[in-house]
Order: sequence, then structure tokens, then C-alpha cells
Amino acid sequence: MNIFNQLYNISELISSDYFGGGSTLSKTYLMDYLILRNDLKTYVEIGVYKGRSLFPVTYAIKQNNGISYGIDPYNKDAAREFDVEKDTQKLIDEFIDNMDFENVYQFVIELKSKLGFEKHLELIRKKSSESVEFFLKNNINIEMLHIDGNHDTKYVMEDVELFLPLLNLNSIIIMDDINWDSVKPAYEKLKETTTVIFESDTFAILINSKIQEEIVKEYEFELNSTFNLIEGLTDKFFANEQKNLENISGKKDVEIRNLKSDILKKENTIKELESITNYQKESLNSLENVINKFKKNFLGVLYQNIYGKKL
Ligand SMILES: C[S@@+](CC[C@H](N)C(=O)[O-])C[C@H]1O[C@@H](n2cnc3c(N)ncnc32)[C@H](O)[C@@H]1O
Repeated sequence: MNIFNQLYNISELISSDYFGGGSTLSKTYLMDYLILRNDLKTYVEIGVYKGRSLFPVTYAIKQNNGISYGIDPYNKDAAREFDVEKDTQKLIDEFIDNMDFENVYQFVIELKSKLGFEKHLELIRKKSSESVEFFLKNNINIEMLHIDGNHDTKYVMEDVELFLPLLNLNSIIIMDDINWDSVKPAYEKLKETTTVIFESDTFAILINSKIQEEIVKEYEFELNSTFNLIEGLTDKFFANEQKNLENISGKKDVEIRNLKSDILKKENTIKELESITNYQKESLNSLENVINKFKKNFLGVLYQNIYGKKL
């Protein structure tokens, strides 16, 4: 099965909602493409939520026999955002208030084992700032870093400052939601020492050093064409899915029509049987009347013959 189908099947297991999980197939496809292209073995994602990007990316990391680390405190207070407009903040707060983070965490743990990622995925239930020590202590060199945790300027800046020293010069950084005003300062800071090799409306891919113009052009060409191809494929794929669903629902409509006509036929048969039964009952009644009359007449004649007078 090709990577597109694999990623689609994995994403289908994880619902997306208002709070997160907007990682599209084209985004995770690009990430997997780079992991396989550059033989990357260590992936770190800050902000996992349900794993809409962590699981599809771990699929490629597993192919390279590497390991993914997913960092998320799964905690209501850490998830709140303050650098957003009042209306958005209200929506986020309501969403968080109604969310059971414990359930989300259990879902992620179960999916990790269901997908066979036990040896290739480690979950760190901490804030990003609290997990830096783990990477330092274990001398872990991060080859791909995905920043998608708390989007408040203070925290995104902190993520950039704390995690950049754990990367090497060829490491790749994925910065999510670059269109958020609160994320922009960290993105600008990041660009000072790195090179952008891909930018969409919502996310960017960077290399952790200033690289030659020619290499940038190569990356840009590869990534843009791959992205457009996958976006096109996704549109086609979903159009086909819709057609299939329409076919299925069309067939179901025919089945329902057939069932309805079967029911109608059976109702008519029942009506016919009822009318036959009624007719037979009436016949039986009139037969009983005839027998009674006959008995009466016959007995009357017999009595008169024997006793010489009427009954
Ligand atoms: C936008 S969601 C992540 C979406 C995810 N990357 C995906 O593609 O589906 C943001 C997540 O960041 C987590 N988060 C909040 N503060 C964090 C922190 N300080 N460190 C790590 N994760 C954090 C939240 O709990 C939430 O699950």
C-alpha cells in the first residue's frame, strides 16, 4: 500500500476538531517525505493532542527504525490561550472546559499500541519547558522538530529558544500556525538563523542553518510540487469517496424501495387471507343454520310419526 493510503488510514482513526488536529494529509505527507528522503530518525512534536500529526509522522520514523517523542501535558490550564481575540479565547475556553484530557491521553496511548508503535514512540506528559532536561540528559539529537504546543507568544518563543540548541545544522523544523499573530514573533526570530524551504498559509518548514541558494531551490521545487500533488490527490480522493458514498446510498435507496414494495405485497396477501377467512366463517354459520333447520324439521316429522302429534 502506498504512503498516501497509509497516512489516510491512520488519520481516519483520529477525529479532528476545533481545538486541534488540523494537520492535513498534505502536511504530514511532506513531513514523511522529508524523513524518508533525509533518513531522519529522531522526531519531536511539541503539542500532540490526539496525534493527528504524531501518528502519521511516526509511521515514517518507524520505517527508518527511529523514534518519535510526543510532548503534551494534557492539562486544562496549560492548554488555555491568552494572546487571542476575546471571542476566540471564549471559544477555546469553552472547548477546554468541556474536554476530558485524561480520555484524550488514554486514546493516544491505546492508538500507539494499536498501530504497533511501542518501540518507536515515547509520550512525555509534561510541558515542553519541563521536558528539555530529558533530551539534554539523554543526549538526544533532534532531527525533526514540530512546534505546535501553546500558541501564546511567550510559550512559542520559549519553545524556539529551549529546543533549537537540541538540533543539528541539518535538522528540520516545522512551525505550525504561522498565520497566528501570537506565533509570528517566534517565526520571525526563527528565520534569523534558519532557512525556510517551504511555506503554506498555515505552516512552514525550515532547515536549522543558512544553506546555499541552490539547495534551497531544490527543496522548494520538491516540496512545492509534492504538496500540490497531494492537495490535488486529496481533492480527487475525497471526490471519489463522495461518489462511492453516493453510490452506496443510491443502492440503499433501491433496497429500501424493494423492501417497501415487498411489505405492500405481504400486506395485500394478509388482507386477502382475512377476507377468505371471513367468507369461510360466514359459510360455516349458514351451514350451521341449515343443519339446525334440518334437524328441527327432521325431528318434528319423526315425533309426529311416532306420537301422532306435533312437537
Ligand atoms: C493545537 S494542539 C496540537 C495539535 C497536534 N499537533 C495535531 O496535529 O493534531 C495543541 C496542544 O498543545 C498542548 N500544549 C499546551 N501547552 C503545552 C506545553 N507547554 N507544552 C507542550 N504541549 C502543550 C495542548 O495540551 C494541546 O494538546
